[in-house]
Amino acid sequence: MTIAVTAVSGQLGGAIARNLIKTYPQETLIGLARTPANAKGLGTEIGIEIRPGDYGKPEQLHASLEGVDTLLLVSGMDAPDLRIGQHRNVIEAAKSAGVQKIVYTSIQGVEEGTAFSAVVQSNRQTEADVRACGLDYAIGRNGIYIEPDVEYIESYKARGEIANSAGNGKCGYTTRAELAHAYACLLTSDTFNGQTFNLYGPQITQTQLAAYLNGAFGTTLTYREMTPEDFIADRTAELGDFIGPIIGGIYEGIRRGIYDAPSDFAAVAGRPHQSWEDYFQSLSS
Ligand SMILES: NC(=O)c1ccc[n+]([C@@H]2O[C@H](COP(=O)([O-])OP(=O)(O)OC[C@H]3O[C@@H](n4cnc5c(N)ncnc54)[C@H](OP(=O)(O)O)[C@@H]3O)[C@@H](O)[C@H]2O)c1
Repeated sequence: MTIAVTAVSGQLGGAIARNLIKTYPQETLIGLARTPANAKGLGTEIGIEIRPGDYGKPEQLHASLEGVDTLLLVSGMDAPDLRIGQHRNVIEAAKSAGVQKIVYTSIQGVEEGTAFSAVVQSNRQTEADVRACGLDYAIGRNGIYIEPDVEYIESYKARGEIANSAGNGKCGYTTRAELAHAYACLLTSDTFNGQTFNLYGPQITQTQLAAYLNGAFGTTLTYREMTPEDFIADRTAELGDFIGPIIGGIYEGIRRGIYDAPSDFAAVAGRPHQSWEDYFQSLSS
């Protein structure tokens, strides 16, 4: 079986390829990249072929998927309306090139009424397109990456607090490394075909997140709740008109409890998700 991973130059695609190579022969793993130069280092590191894979280029995608049996489609980054068509390009190219199974990295999130909902809806549409495409499939709905909170530590330190609109909502966070393990399982086992899985670890509040960060980095961060409107304005001022409201909408989803749904991680991965105690301890050691 030959497996291809799209967006392999990115952090999630790269982590999935690195995970697969541990148990899978390198000659049967192919990385697709919109910008192959960005994946050159990974290709050399783990010894896999890198082929061009721009979601906006159907003919290129078809050529690059020749000989591929199973495809991991990483959700794109463009505006929601553009993403749907780009993902359809990948699905159509997979069908015409003879791919037999697609695994899609979707997201957890509120489907209506937040500034993130258009992104969630675009992922739901791609889920529907994958289910209807006639190939075998499996879909993961990823929780929120925890790494950005860790990377943001200097900004949190400068502010002395974590301030957002999540309130007391619990969030099913995850890491790209843990997702990579779960996606390797979805790709290499047919047990999960035809199903959709919530993929994240133990749910925690922002107050618990602050405590974990304090334990790892020796900080004294506290948590302060903001209104959804104030937090969107705060993020838009720092991150701009596209990403700012999206981040605000994600935290409104946490506030509403959407990320506090049961996780299927252990059922897919064959083991529990890494505990947050272990994860944050690994950062401080
Ligand atoms: N769960 C979460 O908390 C969360 C947070 C952020 C994003 N996401 C989603 O998760 C996905 C993967 O995350 P990540 O951490 O791997 O992001 P990342 O490190 O920023 O990588 C994004 C990847 O997408 C590729 N890409 C973008 N547009 C493309 C296109 N039109 N055709 C083909 N490839 C394209 C990029 O290729 P280049 O090298 O050419 O730029 C890059 O490889 C994101 O795309 C997003 O949908 C989830």
